[in-house]
Amino acid sequence: MARAFQKTVLVTGGNRGIGFAIAQGLLARGYEVIISARSLDSARQAAEKLQGDVIPLALDVSDDQSIEQAVNIVSQRCDRLDVLVNNAGIYPDDNVNILTISREVLDAAMQTNTFGVIRMVQAFSPLLEKSQDARVINLSSGMGALDGLTATAPSYCLSKLALNGATLMLAHSLEAKGIVVNAVCPGWVRTDMGGAAAPRSPEQGADTAIWLAAEAPRSETGKFWRDRKVISY
Ligand SMILES: NC(=O)c1ccc[n+]([C@@H]2O[C@H](COP(=O)([O-])OP(=O)(O)OC[C@H]3O[C@@H](n4cnc5c(N)ncnc54)[C@H](OP(=O)(O)O)[C@@H]3O)[C@@H](O)[C@H]2O)c1
Repeated sequence: MARAFQKTVLVTGGNRGIGFAIAQGLLARGYEVIISARSLDSARQAAEKLQGDVIPLALDVSDDQSIEQAVNIVSQRCDRLDVLVNNAGIYPDDNVNILTISREVLDAAMQTNTFGVIRMVQAFSPLLEKSQDARVINLSSGMGALDGLTATAPSYCLSKLALNGATLMLAHSLEAKGIVVNAVCPGWVRTDMGGAAAPRSPEQGADTAIWLAAEAPRSETGKFWRDRKVISY
């Protein structure tokens, strides 16, 4: 259980890659960190690698029942949620382009990368509303910016383009409730998704998300960021 003034953050897909680095960075800043992964074992293994207040949680963001169970578990342990980092994501475009991609692959990307984020915010907003400093950070991508769309990664690009739109709509809708919402591009990062040739470490990829979670002025909402600077949607 978090100490009275300790902030609590939930990082989806926090068991590896950029999510793990975000969890690690916020833990070092004194946050209580809920690391979620699709498998509880995987969340537990990630939690064991970290020192501090870490709660492992099973959560599949493409499954409403799993989200509901996660809200119940978090509500039992925490009286509020200060930060939600929607980091979980997939890149299912394998040898496809916009002329060949199937409905199934488009659907998979949208369910996790876009609809999962919207459903997570809906489900966790009652707990976020209880925070004096509530923040939502959505891990997007420059491939979802209008000038970054690539026909050979159609489901990923479209899901992140729509995530950027959802970020704007959520920011407007949650402004009156005091919840700020921003999207971030981490750059090209060495993870299972980004591959070994990527120039950035997971820690470098996590930097702007950590800054948005812990330091960015609360007046900044509905924006798209890279390297702590606003970029175009
Ligand atoms: N790497 C890059 O270069 C790059 C660039 C731009 C944006 N991004 C974005 O940054 C975020 C993190 O990427 P990454 O590179 O760290 O990816 P990664 O290493 O492939 O990790 C993806 C994470 O998402 C989780 N995940 C996938 N589907 C999920 C679901 N349905 N429910 C819950 N968790 C799920 C995975 O959990 P499991 O272990 O259960 O699979 C894993 O923890 C993603 O949103 C990605 O689109 C990455």
